[in-house]
Amino acid sequence: VLFQLRNPSSPPCIRSWIPWFGAAFQFGKAPLEFIEQARSKHGPVFTIFALGKRFTFVTEEEGTEAFFNSKDLNFEQAVQQAVENAVSVPAEAFYQNHGTLYSMMKGKMSPSNLHVFTGTLCKELHEHMAPLGTEGTGDLNDLVRHVMYPAVVNTLFGKGICPTSQSEIKEFEEYFQMYDEDFEYASQMPECFLRNWSKSKKWLLKLFEKVVLDAERTNPSETASKTLLQHLLDNLQGKHLGPNYGLLMLWASQANALPIAFWTLTFILSYPSIYEKVMEDLASVFGKAGKDEIEVSEETLKKLPFIKWCTLEAIRLRSPGAITKKVINPIKIQNFTIPAGDMLMLSPYWLHRNPKYFPDPEVFKPDRWKEANLEKNAFLDSFVAFGGGKHQCPGRWFAIMEIQLFVVLFLYKYEFVLLDAVPKESPLHLVGTQQPMAPFRVQYKCQE
Ligand code: HEM
Repeated sequence: VLFQLRNPSSPPCIRSWIPWFGAAFQFGKAPLEFIEQARSKHGPVFTIFALGKRFTFVTEEEGTEAFFNSKDLNFEQAVQQAVENAVSVPAEAFYQNHGTLYSMMKGKMSPSNLHVFTGTLCKELHEHMAPLGTEGTGDLNDLVRHVMYPAVVNTLFGKGICPTSQSEIKEFEEYFQMYDEDFEYASQMPECFLRNWSKSKKWLLKLFEKVVLDAERTNPSETASKTLLQHLLDNLQGKHLGPNYGLLMLWASQANALPIAFWTLTFILSYPSIYEKVMEDLASVFGKAGKDEIEVSEETLKKLPFIKWCTLEAIRLRSPGAITKKVINPIKIQNFTIPAGDMLMLSPYWLHRNPKYFPDPEVFKPDRWKEANLEKNAFLDSFVAFGGGKHQCPGRWFAIMEIQLFVVLFLYKYEFVLLDAVPKESPLHLVGTQQPMAPFRVQYKCQE
């Protein structure tokens, strides 16, 4: 009945017989799969009514241009409530700070500035690979996290500022994982529904009070020596919100990049011909694998384009399930008019499976990135893992560099035996890159 009565210029709307809760239950169980099923049943543009809100999905290329460039859509209004729920930054402070902090991060992590981080990150990665020893067995996702997390945090926040030593890290990791796991639900619903998440948020915010005090105490006067966190604190209006923004920056810098580092390694290790090519490239730049602690600079990374293509291809296949804008004036997409107030959702994950832009879309094919003009910092057409337009992810070049560097050092040092089948990606989350659905154990040993 609902479908017969709907205005023909509105997209089909999926709801359930439970008012307010709407389609949240079916949707919440496996949102990525739900989107695909809804698309094949209702067409490329459809609305899901859930938790009292209308989420309108645009799953084909027609809506992409409008999504990134239309003045009738607003990024800040789409994410403000989520930021308030996630790190308790009130609306007024969010709108006051957003533009300045975004420009600062974009500038500090621009391609021409990456060399500032590469040397430190390389040293940090070596240091945090050392505890793995010369051989062992473990879940690859855990191994990646134990190396990448402290190395990246020490690089962006400053050494000794966040807990990263072996003794302190366990408790921190437990709380951060709990926080990250439910971040998506927590950003959409009141905190009282998520007791464990709320506990982890309080613990992390308390910890960040100390982190921020230490960062302020050691804040140098000359710009070149400041960490990214110190730049953030210098630019922040409302100094009491330092811990809240510090936690937000930590989450943004870890939540997407770490799973992608896992997937990049997993894809390389599970395709023998690709692994062989990667190892040949490493040998041609550094000599026989495993010998020394190699030093890798920005210039060296440029000599390893294939590993950069592997990183980008892993990002393409495991990109965020959805990104959001708020409709502030009614907007026309295809033959539909989307009303003001809707949350407009674009799915990089599904757009990256369009065979028109990515032939054999499900196949891991690093060579397709040959066509991209990466020297000019351009991605392939229709690649939107980092968003687009003026709100594109400010950490994107840093993310690609850190993953490429990690893969170089890890594969140069260790060889692997895969003990489990490659896990599928989890359909559970919509915001952010996908986690593996099952453990993926590997045996590793220093290259001879
Ligand atoms: C593979 C890794 C990453 C992916 C796929 C990714 C993706 C994204 C996406 C899709 C957005 C939202 C853009 C939009 O809605 O239009 C975003 C925003 C953001 N990302 Fe990333 N990101 C990654 C890594 C990073 C890293 C390493 C950092 C920091 C070091 C970072 C910092 C941020 C920040 C601060 C924002 C918010 C921008 C704003 O408020 O305007 N990201 N990212």
